Amino acid sequence: MATPRILSGIKPTGKPHIGNYFGMMRPAIEWQDRGEAFYFIADYHALTTVRDPKSLREFSRGVALDFLACGLDPAKAVLFRQSDVPQVTELSWILSCVTPMPMLENCHAYKDHLANEKIPSHGLFAYPVLMAADILLYDSNVVPVGRDQKQHVEVTRDLAHKINALYGKILTVPEASILPETETIPGLDGRKMSKSYENTIELFPEEKALRKKIMSITTDSAAVEEPKEPATSSIVALYKLFASEADLRRMEDDFRAGGIGYGEFKKRLFEAVWAYFAPMRARREELARDPGEVDRVLKEGAQRAEAVAIITMQRIRHAIGLR
Ligand code: AMP
Ligand code: TRP
Repeated sequence: MATPRILSGIKPTGKPHIGNYFGMMRPAIEWQDRGEAFYFIADYHALTTVRDPKSLREFSRGVALDFLACGLDPAKAVLFRQSDVPQVTELSWILSCVTPMPMLENCHAYKDHLANEKIPSHGLFAYPVLMAADILLYDSNVVPVGRDQKQHVEVTRDLAHKINALYGKILTVPEASILPETETIPGLDGRKMSKSYENTIELFPEEKALRKKIMSITTDSAAVEEPKEPATSSIVALYKLFASEADLRRMEDDFRAGGIGYGEFKKRLFEAVWAYFAPMRARREELARDPGEVDRVLKEGAQRAEAVAIITMQRIRHAIGLR
């Protein structure tokens, strides 16, 4: 592969959290030095859950701001809003015409909805097709994501193969990039950290709010003096992301030794998280001082993304007989 094209997206359904950061944002930021990176705010996707226009706009700007604060460099990576390149909905339709219903019936978001006796919208059902369109529209090679998106990238690959078999090799078949150490970050209750479980730690909360969140991590009822098991603790699992090797080892040893309560371990975790995000917090405050900056980045990003999208769509339209 010469210069890889890298693409990923994040839904503006709330404020980005530590799961988003380690699962997708940090890997994406690392990829920006290794190829042509396209990252977007998946506002069309967010419409499956966010129904308040003001919230959707605020979350979208907020995600962009957080991403920039964390180190996304607009000189290296294209950052844009999904809906600023509406061609993706056209490709989504084209793909949906070769998508077998059972493929979508097998996708986890849809199955979860049914399992919880909720009525899925058609948008939620078709969500993986729109995601495939996102990826294929930009001829992406690499898609850095968390573990929960693996199935969607598999769907994308299947659809690309189907189109290529029907119309000649017109689409690039992408690959997911999932880092084993950070593929599923646990939340406050030990389940996967997720906005829908309300168990998240946001990237830039106030100090007091962060402390409170971390103090609320679920633990077993072991008394202070008892030895504790580090391998199954969410405190340790999270601390691992932020602490040095030596500090991590010290926490694991202190767990096993007994004599220290969970409250103390949570304090150590708080200190590590607060220190880790300090430089990014400073950068975020600086960025937030110029409200036009995010808009400028997104506007330029939209232009650069659309230039690519127009060319891909011409190729696809021609190949399938729309023109
Ligand atoms: P979303 O908020 O669903 O748009 O997710 C954006 C990105 O963050 C996707 O690549 C997800 O796989 C990733 N992600 C979300 N939650 C987690 C988690 N708990 N652990 C690892 N990655 C995650
Ligand atoms: N579905 C992804 C999520 O929920 C977000 C997303 C939309 C995405 N389109 C994408 C991720 C394309 C990678 C590539 O996290």
